Amino acid sequence: MSEVGLKVMIMESEERISTGVKGFDKLVEGGLIPGKVYLIVGPPGSGKTTFAMQFLLEGARNGERVAYVSLVHDPREAAKDMARFDPSIWVYVNSGNLILYDFGKVLWKSAGKPPTWGGVLSEIRTLAQTSKISRLVIDPLSAIEFRGDNPAEKRAELSSFTRSVENLGVTTFFVSELTELDRYTEEHYISHGVIMLHYFLDEEKADMVRAIQVLKMRRTKHKTGLFLMRFTDRGLEVLDKPPL
Ligand SMILES: Nc1ncnc2c1ncn2[C@@H]1O[C@H](COP(=O)(O)OP(=O)(O)O)[C@@H](O)[C@H]1O
Ligand SMILES: [Mg+2]
Repeated sequence: MSEVGLKVMIMESEERISTGVKGFDKLVEGGLIPGKVYLIVGPPGSGKTTFAMQFLLEGARNGERVAYVSLVHDPREAAKDMARFDPSIWVYVNSGNLILYDFGKVLWKSAGKPPTWGGVLSEIRTLAQTSKISRLVIDPLSAIEFRGDNPAEKRAELSSFTRSVENLGVTTFFVSELTELDRYTEEHYISHGVIMLHYFLDEEKADMVRAIQVLKMRRTKHKTGLFLMRFTDRGLEVLDKPPL
């Protein structure tokens, strides 16, 4: 086989893992490339934490060990929210396959100030190495404080953090609130993929509607449009149609 042919074969056979969100994987050639860092971004209430929890549960169901790292809220609250859709979450929490890590308590409250990139990284490294996790969620990334103020310094801090997390070989979701648009644009460049959740008013129906969009997904022929996303009794699902 020619060198080009071999390269094409390798690219096509790259392993993909499911996000556990019904209807989503087909937007990204069947799933995520493992071991990379992804970003999920959107306004409050758009479904970020639920998406991230479904991604972790998918791993736990496959017998993987996974971790949800909360930087602000008690992570048990997110697990309780998720239990409404899938009560089996407690089976994985109790068996230690889904680790709920309360970083907010460890790093924020004890030090009396927001966590730093270095502090979070060293905790994650320990967690990844001692617990051998394959999937990780950090929620929300926006709680971590930059040391530097200028954009170049921020970019350097975030990029070194992301690279260090990627070196752990754990498929990771950074959850990001879309509240300060200018403050967190760097993470879009640095992550392997960016998924954006939309939550807006459908004026005709006088109701809010949810949609999902893949802004970026390296090495992937992905859809770029907005797809309707909704909560069902089993959690979030993506439909093969536009939101309006
Ligand atoms: N059973 C449900 N049916 C419909 N919507 C729900 C249900 N459970 C939660 N929600 C919606 O999900 C929102 C929270 O989703 P979440 O994933 O925590 O969002 P985010 O992390 O983006 O703030 C709630 O504010 C509510 O609007
Ligand atoms: Mg959330």
